[in-house]
Amino acid sequence: MLERLTLAIRRTVLHLVAKSGFLCSVYYAFCSSAFRREHRGAVCGRLKYMRQARNPSGCQYLLRRNLHLLEKGMLMRPRRDVFALDYIQETVACYGRALQLARTSPELVCRSELHWAANVLARYFDVSGSHPIINEVRDRFRAMQADLPEHASMTAPLKHGVAGPTPVEYEELLDLARRRRSVRWFLQNPVPRDVIDRAIAVAALSPSACNLQPFEFRVFDDAELIWEVASLPTGTTGFGPNLPAIVVLIGKLHAWFSEADRHLVYIDASLAAMAFLLALESQGLGSCCLNWPDMESKERSMAKLLGLEPDERVIMLIALGYPDPEGLLTYSYKKSLAELRNFNITG
Ligand SMILES: Cc1cc2nc3c(=O)[nH]c(=O)nc-3n(C[C@H](O)[C@H](O)[C@H](O)COP(=O)(O)O)c2cc1C
Repeated sequence: MLERLTLAIRRTVLHLVAKSGFLCSVYYAFCSSAFRREHRGAVCGRLKYMRQARNPSGCQYLLRRNLHLLEKGMLMRPRRDVFALDYIQETVACYGRALQLARTSPELVCRSELHWAANVLARYFDVSGSHPIINEVRDRFRAMQADLPEHASMTAPLKHGVAGPTPVEYEELLDLARRRRSVRWFLQNPVPRDVIDRAIAVAALSPSACNLQPFEFRVFDDAELIWEVASLPTGTTGFGPNLPAIVVLIGKLHAWFSEADRHLVYIDASLAAMAFLLALESQGLGSCCLNWPDMESKERSMAKLLGLEPDERVIMLIALGYPDPEGLLTYSYKKSLAELRNFNITG
């Protein structure tokens, strides 16, 4: 009786607040803490992004984003003679700090990323027309280059033709996708780390908004840690204790300066996750994505175990290992093309 009354009140309240975005905000401010962690993550992420612009120990996301914009500017048809005026100074300043950091703490800087940056900036200054801002930054950039020891062999932007014909036929890809199923029962053989690394190398080639790749694969292959991690999500009941390895995929909200882009970490990480699963499959490994619900006690335990900052969000977990040939799989009937696809439907 009481339960039904509570349900009826809740339904009425939701019905009322659903009438406006403002009422929904009031509801979530005073009646529910469901979005509190997400709000905090977004605020902490924005703050960290803003700080990196002045942070001597790196501004990787800012630099990557701006380099991406420069590369895009260079491939435009027609290419503008003068572009990027509003961010080229910031980009070169950021690059300068990365160079400085490479000298003082080389372990904190990825040299090939720095070479990419050098290459993109060099090309940009080669093709840019004359403008007081560009001329001034060009001189500054070229002076920095003088003492850069190695030089990049890459050329940015690329021509599509260099990729050659596709190396995988459609039927092969379809077969691989069909073969991949969520595996929950594994042989108790350890998974070689290089096999996991090879799968991450494929995942790393996935598209991501502005090429930021705001995620990290935290891999656990130590029996005790696997169990500590695997016991946190709700969806491992029954099969959690037999996992030979588990990955926690983490999204980094500080890659973005606006909460309008807060969903991109989930999208980017999930695209990478799919490539990771297929790459595991291609090497004979099975995998199963595991849901990570936004539940306060679990979030707190995971943040403590992994040492996560408030802007670092768990996207999902992925169990992996060599499949037990005797283990059963769910049939998991897939929707038909007619249900999944529509052309040119509007309104
Ligand atoms: C984001 C996500 C979360 C999932 N969470 C769980 C989970 O917690 N436990 C589980 O056993 N399977 C989980 N799965 C696996 C799905 O149940 C499975 O992908 C689906 O039933 C389709 O089966 P298939 O992967 O074999 O095609 C998850 C899958 C995804 C993509």
